[in-house]
Amino acid sequence: MADQTPAYDVIIIGGGPGGYNAAIRAGQLGLKVACVEMRETLGGTCLNVGCMPSKALLHASELFEAASKDFAGLGIEVAPKLNLGQMMAQKQDSVTALTKGIEFLFKKNKVDWLKGRGRLDGPGRVVVEGPDGAATSYTTKNVIIATGSEPTPLPGVEFVEGKVIDSTGALSLPAVPKSMVVIGAGVIGLELGSVWRRLGAEVTVIEYLDAIGAGMDAEVATAFQRGLTKQGMKFRMGQKVTSARADANGVALTVEPAKGGDAETLTADVVLVAIGRRPYTLGVGLETVGAAPDARGFVAHDHFKVAEGVWVIGDVTHGPMLAHKAEEDGVAAVELIAGKAGHVDYDLVPSVIYTTPEVAWVGKTEEQLKAAGVAYSKGKFPFTANSRSKINHEGEGFVKVLADKATDRVLGVHIYGPQAGELIGEACVLMAFGGASEDLARICHPHPTRSEAVRQAAMGVEGWTMQA
Ligand code: FAD
Ligand code: NAI
Repeated sequence: MADQTPAYDVIIIGGGPGGYNAAIRAGQLGLKVACVEMRETLGGTCLNVGCMPSKALLHASELFEAASKDFAGLGIEVAPKLNLGQMMAQKQDSVTALTKGIEFLFKKNKVDWLKGRGRLDGPGRVVVEGPDGAATSYTTKNVIIATGSEPTPLPGVEFVEGKVIDSTGALSLPAVPKSMVVIGAGVIGLELGSVWRRLGAEVTVIEYLDAIGAGMDAEVATAFQRGLTKQGMKFRMGQKVTSARADANGVALTVEPAKGGDAETLTADVVLVAIGRRPYTLGVGLETVGAAPDARGFVAHDHFKVAEGVWVIGDVTHGPMLAHKAEEDGVAAVELIAGKAGHVDYDLVPSVIYTTPEVAWVGKTEEQLKAAGVAYSKGKFPFTANSRSKINHEGEGFVKVLADKATDRVLGVHIYGPQAGELIGEACVLMAFGGASEDLARICHPHPTRSEAVRQAAMGVEGWTMQA
């Protein structure tokens, strides 16, 4: 095995949002840094087969549906025709531009990209097996494990290319299926289910729990499910799939009530399994530094440290499996390595579901506040009463602001409505500064914008909403 000198300050294994942001920050701080990535392109799950391609298809399919259903009402007569090949090509073009952008940033910040599969080989040593199979050993003061996650398989439901698929398969189907069953009403199921429903598939979502949205505020989940149902998505709640059989005609699924009962058979052209993701640590050599994943596969840490000189960030460790959380982890870990005060406030990591309309939230849900015995006040404002949303025929949804009853400090903001993902940023800033609902309510917002609905909901906490 070739031995490579000089030593690095930090080698990062994994070039996703956790790894590439850590690498760039390390370069900015003057550390000698390398990032090991085994894909042909940088950017990890997010840029290659996650956030970005899914948003490209959500955007294009949203416009297709609007052109098919809404344009005529605005006085625009068109007869849209789907060109799925072009829709996929523009998605891929954007993905390529983004992954090349990370390569550029690596060069700009003096980050070495070590191409291949990396593994820890005891303290201070990383072995990289290159695409040609040759192994090279590197010495380093620090290693950051940023190996991300992979789809969780469902026992009894084997993946079959083009028929029983995961999110990666659902991002590149060659044709619109007539029918699609989505297993799991979480973020992936609802986003990618929406894409294929908009393009013409009959979509049925099977969810184990009684609510969609994997833990979002219950009032929002109810409204969101009603909205998706109105759009044509079908839901089977409180049910589980126990087996799948794929043949030339499609897929036959055995479906049972989650709490027990009679099984039935459901058929579909394509089945998307989206029941969560699990940490990916295959062959990364944690055992060589005395570390191991926990029972659920996550690598636990103390301020990102798992052993002397070994750090962990992103999906492979605890916390929400989100790109921006991975990025925060990565920057904080590198700043700690550089002797700075790296820190992440996990209470303020926002979530967004990029459906139409979107769902976004930050902080606590009502259910979490009740369970913790926190007394809170609530302000709510509907988008039907927001002038910009009304004029654009986008009146679905509401904003909800939850504030501490005694101090008025904002504890949670939940938005189901147009551009919710953009609107939530204001709540993140407010809450990071420990802001009160009155602060938000007294800040002048531009008119006419949807952001006025956020302000009005904050006014509602103390009962002086004006526009409803
Ligand atoms: P990853 O992005 O998974 O990157 C890990 C990288 O490590 C991979 O490229 C992998 O090839 C590499 N790797 C693994 N092991 C090795 C090894 N031994 N040697 C070398 N390289 C290795 N999050 C959001 O915030 N917003 C969204 O809109 C969003 N949409 C999503 C849509 C989909 C369909 C999916 C699947 C996910 C989405 N996510 C979204 C989640 C987001 O993609 C992840 O949270 C994020 O990518 C995690 O970043 P990471 O750096 O921890 O891991
Ligand atoms: P998820 O955790 O969001 O949802 C999984 C859903 O499947 C849950 O509702 C769960 O109750 C259900 N489920 C689990 N087992 C089941 C079974 N056997 N039968 C039926 N239902 C079952 O996971 P998902 O959607 O796979 O997403 C994985 C991760 O990717 C999430 O953590 C999410 O944060 C991230 N992601 C983020 C996006 C965003 O930020 N917009 C977009 C897509 C993914």
